[in-house]
Amino acid sequence: MKHCKKVSILLAVMILAVLFGGCSSKEENIRIVRIGHNQSMNHPTHKALVAFQDYIHEKLGDSYKVEVYPSELLGSQNNMVQLTQTGAIDFCVASNAILDTFSKNYEIFNLPYLFSSEESYHHVMDDKTVTDPIFESTKKAGFTAVTWLDAGTRNFYTVDTPIESPEDLKGLKIRVQQSPINIQMMQLLGGSATPMGFGEVYTALQSKIIDGAENNELALTDNGHGDVCKYYSYDMHQMVPDILIGNNAFIEGLPEEDKAIFEEGFQLVNQVQREEWAKSVKESKEKAEKEQHVNFIYPDTKPFEEACKPLHEEILKENPALQDIYDAIQKYNEEYPSVAGVE
Ligand code: GCU
Repeated sequence: MKHCKKVSILLAVMILAVLFGGCSSKEENIRIVRIGHNQSMNHPTHKALVAFQDYIHEKLGDSYKVEVYPSELLGSQNNMVQLTQTGAIDFCVASNAILDTFSKNYEIFNLPYLFSSEESYHHVMDDKTVTDPIFESTKKAGFTAVTWLDAGTRNFYTVDTPIESPEDLKGLKIRVQQSPINIQMMQLLGGSATPMGFGEVYTALQSKIIDGAENNELALTDNGHGDVCKYYSYDMHQMVPDILIGNNAFIEGLPEEDKAIFEEGFQLVNQVQREEWAKSVKESKEKAEKEQHVNFIYPDTKPFEEACKPLHEEILKENPALQDIYDAIQKYNEEYPSVAGVE
């Protein structure tokens, strides 16, 4: 309720600003650039967007003012994508997982066990020949991806059941992101998928509507899930990037010189987020272990991977246009095979 109220107030403020002030403050003729995301202000993504805000201020402060709205202040990721589509806001961060409803091309990065290692994942995401056909595939839908953000490796965690093998997921209700692939993945693994928005997960865990969820380590600390869930199991099922998307009309309407600066800013977001991410994962794991008393489990990942593998073929059959991208990813997988695993 409180959250709904907050969102309505913010939206009302924004509508008034658009009605009475255009998108810019008349006196100063400064264009306000709004960016929404669903993480806290401690999160690497927020820090990276603040670096972007500072960069634009330094380079183009007379013409633009970037405002960053964290913590679902502008609604859930699904809401924010819609606001970005229509131009009510200019940018938002969305998980790749929810973008496959806007373009089937995004399905590829939702596949479980797609990448052999973190190195392979990073090289793929940095390779524009791989990402451009995906990032540009939503142009007709009104938005384009401008860069990607690391969201680590997704693993299962539960209130009180250690997950050592897929059999342990049987009968458990696990929250997944709202993507058909995640629902299929849970079916293959034997658990019961409960799709819901990120902001609802903590209460659902606490009130035992679900038995667990799956995410990176930061969900334990930054979102408090480790206060309720005491088992985190490194089955390593997905590396799903977050994507910074922007409204097409805004991006295309930028004068060339400004566009070049914005593009430098997007690269800065990627760089800062990546550096902050590596530090945050380490800190989160330590905090979860020492302060929240979460038990970390290191199961054999092979049975999980074997169970999920049919999904690869299925998706490629349904969407053959993804085959070239899939093959390019396999080349990186060969070059950067899995190393020692998680410590
Ligand atoms: C991660 C990811 C978010 C996503 C969330 C989720 O935190 O960075 O973009 O919304 O997982 O599970 O929904």
